[in-house]
Amino acid sequence: MGVLLQVKNAGIQFGGLKAVSGFNMELQQGELVGLIGPNGAGKTTSFNLLTGVYVPTEGEILFDGKRLNGLAPYQVTRNGISRTFQNIRLFSELSVLDNVKVAYHSLAKHSIFSSIFRLPFHFSEEKVMEEKALEFLKIFQLDRYKDEKAKNLPYGQQRRLEIARALAAGPKLLLLDEPAAGMNPQETHELMELIAFIRKQFNLTILLIEHDMHLVMGICERIYVLDHGQLIAEGTPSEIRNHPKVIEAYLGEEVSADA
Ligand SMILES: Nc1ncnc2c1ncn2[C@@H]1O[C@H](COP(=O)(O)OP(=O)(O)O)[C@@H](O)[C@H]1O
Ligand SMILES: [Mg+2]
Repeated sequence: MGVLLQVKNAGIQFGGLKAVSGFNMELQQGELVGLIGPNGAGKTTSFNLLTGVYVPTEGEILFDGKRLNGLAPYQVTRNGISRTFQNIRLFSELSVLDNVKVAYHSLAKHSIFSSIFRLPFHFSEEKVMEEKALEFLKIFQLDRYKDEKAKNLPYGQQRRLEIARALAAGPKLLLLDEPAAGMNPQETHELMELIAFIRKQFNLTILLIEHDMHLVMGICERIYVLDHGQLIAEGTPSEIRNHPKVIEAYLGEEVSADA
């Protein structure tokens, strides 16, 4: 155990809009934590702050003892944070296997020189990458699709492939942005079990964004709730379920959805 991630008063403003402000979060090594909130609450924006897509206009982000503010996304990945996207991002024309292998390429130590001239070292490394990529595909039961183009996979499998690729980068912290979006209840249930499994298997810390609060309650130990860019609650699932501000935030959403 120990603190892996500390977010201190972080925020970002777009023009006049404070998309996220005064955001505080602390993740312990090995935790599975939920980040919930109505649409537009700032959940995806907070992932973008954590991963270097946006530079915070306030506060700081400390990961594994290092300050992340101002690092580019690829540097954040190298420091041990991987993510998936709310709208799936795969290399649609590449094979399923290659989609996972690119995760290794982004981390690989071999030089551009050795890849261009195909030196022996490059060959052996390529082989190791391929074997490792296949192992990840097996865990996600995607190995039989390894030669298919990513775009030909059914939607639910594409979502799983994106998680496999994020894992292949060898993160300490995995950020999942609505991984169950668009899945049917059966696929969603299987995905939640898989998330719990990989957490244990890879000794991961996971932060899971999910719109449906009942879903996260089933697997997360703690939950943070955002509304209008502000943290309105933090606690165990039972604390969150009965929290007046959370109920109000979600009620407000149902009312506006009906309107
Ligand atoms: N790049 C951007 N420029 C301007 N506004 C943005 C940008 N990214 C997000 N926002 C705004 O920030 C708010 C939070 O969005 P987002 O983080 O996507 O919410 P959530 O993921 O919780 O649904 C929204 O009002 C959204 O329109
Ligand atoms: Mg979002």
